[in-house]
Amino acid sequence: MTKISSSIPRYETSTCLHVHHHSHLLLLFIKSPAPGITTIPNSQWKKIHIAHSPPQKTFSFTDLLLTPTPTSTPIAGTTPFPLLSPEGVRCYRKALFQRAVIANCANSPGPGALILRGPSRYSTFIKDLWTHPETMQIVSETIGVPLEIVMPLEIGHTNIQTRSDSVDVKAMVDELGPEPLNEPVELSDADREYDPLKVDSIIPWHYDSYPYVCVLMLSHTEGMVGGETYIKRGDGSTAKIEGPQLGYACMLQGGEVQHLAARAIGVKERITTITSYRAATVGTYDSSYIANVRPYTSRSALYSDWTLYRLAKMREEISALEKTIVARPDQRIDVGELEAFVASQTAYLKRTARQLIPEEQEELLLAKYGMRSFRTAAKIWESIFKTIPIARQLTPVAGRDCWMPSSPLWRDLRDSLEDIQAGRMLESQKGRFVWTNERAYCMGDELLRQGLNEFFLSWLDAVGLWSLYRQLIPAEP
Ligand SMILES: [Fe+2]
Repeated sequence: MTKISSSIPRYETSTCLHVHHHSHLLLLFIKSPAPGITTIPNSQWKKIHIAHSPPQKTFSFTDLLLTPTPTSTPIAGTTPFPLLSPEGVRCYRKALFQRAVIANCANSPGPGALILRGPSRYSTFIKDLWTHPETMQIVSETIGVPLEIVMPLEIGHTNIQTRSDSVDVKAMVDELGPEPLNEPVELSDADREYDPLKVDSIIPWHYDSYPYVCVLMLSHTEGMVGGETYIKRGDGSTAKIEGPQLGYACMLQGGEVQHLAARAIGVKERITTITSYRAATVGTYDSSYIANVRPYTSRSALYSDWTLYRLAKMREEISALEKTIVARPDQRIDVGELEAFVASQTAYLKRTARQLIPEEQEELLLAKYGMRSFRTAAKIWESIFKTIPIARQLTPVAGRDCWMPSSPLWRDLRDSLEDIQAGRMLESQKGRFVWTNERAYCMGDELLRQGLNEFFLSWLDAVGLWSLYRQLIPAEP
């Protein structure tokens, strides 16, 4: 059942009207005089917007020579598959370029780049498309696991690349519209030789914040160079997955496989829209972090979406265990099983809170150290050990008395040190690892492990390394 909200913006109504000639669908978009409840007629909805067929190929962990992790499921990724009809694409783009979406979701991370965060909060179409049972079934079957959308904020996150060299949101939006541009751009020799594995890629090697992702292409790709995804195989080589064409999507277990997104050149625009998922099965571990999205997302929306979804997930886990116990003869308790449950739920709950940096503090830290330092924190850390010899002696004990002395992060550091001593794997925002570095693991490593780059910079500052580093390597303008 889809609730028609009385607050559907007027412009959404009008922009969608001439796309949908079908009277049943109009129900979805017309602001009803007396707001009520209605359903999207499945057959109609599917006929107009969805043009789905399964991917020709899926890649398993085994295919990629990767060892499955305790949190992974067998399919690592898929080749592109058709998902939206051309009409569906137009409607989606119309929904994205509405005033309400642009006003509330748009920001520009750099020239020619635009991000729309959480558009489904302002577009019924986008919300209904991704949450529709048909779509949920398609994505679940494609990746071979029943999925749940991580949180409303992660429905239809949209990345836009334009030819513009401006960071002005309005100027970029003015270049775009519901109709995908189809004008290839002349390639230079350098463009033709572009190798994303050698020069800068749009997003360097990384793990996603969430376990599963579906990336849908809303632009023409004829004449496009690049735009594909590379996955790191178990033997260190790379597997290339072609980027999807207009209306096509591909899926990836991006939280579990290391991957890189190649820059796309040769086109006037490139719009991809991304929805993130976790497994909907009870007992399946959820490896999500919000470290990458925290700095550029409305904190109030993110923090409540995140906390509510984590609590809901825990509630499901607790009810499932309850049911198992009740169903047993004498309601017998297996202490070992209970201990394991408590350990995993405690870790889950702990991460839920640790990922949230208090809002005022977050604003101050980002303003003080800047987005660039935030993004390159791991590189800064590496370069500190190369350029400041005393760092090795200083860091193991640094900050205990001057940087957030009562923070539970100090306890986390002790726990990690214990794990390292016992030779156990550490989980991190960048995948699992064993500490093999010959220098001692310290608070800097702990903060980066948890994806708390903002805190990392403030710790560096408190222990005196930030000013030393900035003297050696001044900030780029
Ligand atoms: Fe990714």
